[in-house]
Amino acid sequence: MSSILLRSSRNIASLDARVCIRTALISKPAYAIRPITCSTKLYKEDKRIHEKMIEDHDHSHAGSFSRTDNTVSIEYPGEDLEPASLAIQGRGGMHFKRTLPSFSLEDRVGIVTGGARGLGLVMSQALVISGCDVAIVDLNKEEGERQAKELMDHFSSENPGADPAKIPKVTAHYADVSDPDSVNASIAEIIQDHGKIDHLVTSAGFTENFDAIAYPFDRVKKLWGVNVDGTYLFATGVARHLMERNAKGSIVMIGSMSGAVVNVPQPQAPYNAAKAAVRHLAASLAVEWAHAGIRVNVISPGYMLTALTKKILDDNPDLYKHWTSLIPQGKMGQPEDLMGAVTYLLSDAAGYVTGADLRVDGGYTVT
Ligand SMILES: NC(=O)c1ccc[n+]([C@@H]2O[C@H](COP(=O)([O-])OP(=O)(O)OC[C@H]3O[C@@H](n4cnc5c(N)ncnc54)[C@H](O)[C@@H]3O)[C@@H](O)[C@H]2O)c1
Repeated sequence: MSSILLRSSRNIASLDARVCIRTALISKPAYAIRPITCSTKLYKEDKRIHEKMIEDHDHSHAGSFSRTDNTVSIEYPGEDLEPASLAIQGRGGMHFKRTLPSFSLEDRVGIVTGGARGLGLVMSQALVISGCDVAIVDLNKEEGERQAKELMDHFSSENPGADPAKIPKVTAHYADVSDPDSVNASIAEIIQDHGKIDHLVTSAGFTENFDAIAYPFDRVKKLWGVNVDGTYLFATGVARHLMERNAKGSIVMIGSMSGAVVNVPQPQAPYNAAKAAVRHLAASLAVEWAHAGIRVNVISPGYMLTALTKKILDDNPDLYKHWTSLIPQGKMGQPEDLMGAVTYLLSDAAGYVTGADLRVDGGYTVT
């Protein structure tokens, strides 16, 4: 090794250069020059061990837990999904447990897209419990209206004797989040009804499963339109309003652990790509809007047991076993598990948190 380097140094015209090489050879510890000779030996040894393992073991299972299965095909049911989601029950009684005041969302107005159902509905309820006025935005305005009334009734029954002026106002609004005109019209309607907007949670979104080669492209475009365009359009619309008001605010985008890992066994490449886009959109907008006091974070839920996932699992019982076997906590999440996460990120308690990805996945993505 030394001789090779010394020989090549003879070709170097400058004496100084040769001196440098000699000095380097003398001063470098032995391990610094070892890789050139020993890496080949190690490689050969590794290869031999590897080949022996293959000879000695049955490898028919190889990779079986980490592959997608193209026979799993699930189309998003859209508005046909039954039953409607229920608000979180069983918290009757006065709310008098002490907590940090910085978690309160009193005197704020928050939009929750996709708030008529599933995770969006439960997060709307978290905002209401925290004192926030809420505008539920959904394709299904009728269900949004029904749930808006339920949320106000719940608040009143859980806070007996509350000052009626302090009961959060919850309204429902129609929007197709993938359509810019529809988004702008609903934001204008919300400002008219509530006077302002301080917070946004983008939960409108859906997943479905098709083998990528067979995925109908019009459905792929629809999926990206709702999950990505919808998030972008609402976030920019709300940020524009905040900047015009010269007001601070915060935004939480609902991504998914699928934005960071590839789920198995169900194939869902466009959804995974959409959620990765949402995650990086949150980070990018966090940087772009930091100067204006607008924080943008993302929550990446794991497998949550909603009406939609329950239907999928009822139709595909093997999936439940497969999914829960991959979750360190050994169970799917409850929509309620997002209540604290969304309240924290929206509130002043997270004042120095922006561009973060808060995983709520029972440890799925750390294994
Ligand atoms: N459920 C899970 O396990 C899970 C896991 C990770 C991430 N997520 C994400 O959480 C979000 C909510 O999922 P969910 O399980 O509550 O779904 P869901 O289907 O129960 O609720 C979604 C809501 O969004 C509304 N919506 C759909 N398209 C819309 C559009 N174009 N415009 C306006 N509203 C529209 C629907 O009407 C519905 O009320 C989605 O972004 C989803 O990708 C869900």
